[in-house]
Formats: sequence, C-alpha cells, structure tokens
Amino acid sequence: MIKLIDVHKYYGDTHVLKGINLDVEKGDFISITGSSGSGKSTLLNLIGGMDRPDRGSILVAGEDISSYKDEQLTLYRRERIGFIFQFFNLLPNITVFENVQMPLLLNSLEEEDRVSEYIKRVGLAGKEASYPYQLSGGEQQRVAVARALIHDPEIILADEPIGSLDSRTGIIIMDLIKQLAEETHKAVILVTHEHYLSNYAKREIKIKDGVLLQ
Ligand SMILES: Nc1ncnc2c1ncn2[C@@H]1O[C@H](COP(=O)(O)OP(=O)(O)O)[C@@H](O)[C@H]1O
Ligand SMILES: [Mg+2]
Repeated sequence: MIKLIDVHKYYGDTHVLKGINLDVEKGDFISITGSSGSGKSTLLNLIGGMDRPDRGSILVAGEDISSYKDEQLTLYRRERIGFIFQFFNLLPNITVFENVQMPLLLNSLEEEDRVSEYIKRVGLAGKEASYPYQLSGGEQQRVAVARALIHDPEIILADEPIGSLDSRTGIIIMDLIKQLAEETHKAVILVTHEHYLSNYAKREIKIKDGVLLQ
C-alpha cells in the first residue's frame, strides 16, 4: 500500500535520509527505531505528506504523492493519514468532542454519533465537554488517538507517541493504539527511540544516520 523507493531528504547541506526503501502493507504494524537525530520524524513527515522528498518516490496505493500539487497533498493528509504526536497537539481552545470531530469537519463529514463512539472507544466517555488542559497527559493522548482514527484513514503515523508519558500510562496508550488499529485494519508506522516499543510491531526496522537497516 505504501512503497518508498530510494527516498532522499536534505536540509541545506545535511543529507538526512539517504536512500530509503520501504514497503508497508495494509494491516501492517511497523516500528522504526533509532537514536535521536537519525531521521525518524523526517521520514514520517514525508510519508504523511507534510514535507516532500528531494529525490525518490513515495507511492501510496500506486500514486506517487511526491508529485502531488499542494492541494492534492493537503487532501491526501486530511483523508488518508491519522497522526499521533509526542505532545498530543490538541487544539487548546476547543473541547475534547470538538478536537475529535475536527478531521470529520475538515473532510466535510457530519457524523456526531461517530465522534461520541470514538470518545467512548478510547475510554473518555463523560469527558466530551472538557478542555485539553483539564486532562492528564494520558487522557490527552487518548483524545489524539480518537482524532487519528475518526475519519477512517488507511495509515496511522505515530511519532514517539508515549515519549512524554510515564511508563505505565505509555503501555496503556500503546495497547490502545494496537487494539484499535487491529480492529480497524490500519497500517501503523511507529517511530521511536525506545527499542522496547518494537514489541508491539509485527516488523521492526532500525534506522541509523538516515539509512534503514532491515
Ligand atoms: N526543519 C529542519 N531544518 C533543518 N534540519 C532539520 C529539520 N528537521 C530535522 N532536521 C535535522 O535532520 C536530522 C534528523 O532529524 P529528525 O528527523 O527530527 O530525527 P529524529 O526524529 O530521528 O530525532 C537532524 O540532524 C535534524 O537536526
Ligand atoms: Mg523525532
């Protein structure tokens, strides 16, 4: 479903990704582990259409997203990607319900029942009207997990999703991501510097200095 062919990325003179080749199938759960600065976030941002490679192709369902125009790339991101970040990235001035609803609104979908259902699925029933600052870190990440899944994207990208949580809460969040991704048949790409998280993956890939070691 996703195929990266000889993907390179530079920031100025820094060669950050040096010929990445990667195949991800529907239903895959892949972890990419490597130390800080190895290029994990850069790679995830390219797959998520938040940035473009300088060389190589990123095929998603047969289409090369690196040749997309900006508007096409925006649509791709909105429709097909669910992103989970280390620091949750919730919108602070709107409620839990509205945060989870946001991807539906961006896709012109009005399914309020679905919003409530997903809030329940991540264990936050009753918190719909709360604001992010009223929630613990673990609860905020639950909101972000619901938001990543609500519009039924094919691909979930998780960038250090438990990096700012205590280890017990982190395990609960990882279990939740894994369970919901399996139930809804998502492809998950998890990037992390914490090697033990690769236990959640069907396949572990290591990255070192912008090169994948398979
Ligand atoms: N927007 C940017 N501008 C310049 N350099 C960047 C930018 N983003 C990342 N880098 C550099 O690219 C390298 C890889 O960064 P990153 O992908 O964030 O690594 P990781 O997520 O594995 O810690 C680092 O050397 C980082 O400093
Ligand atoms: Mg990173």
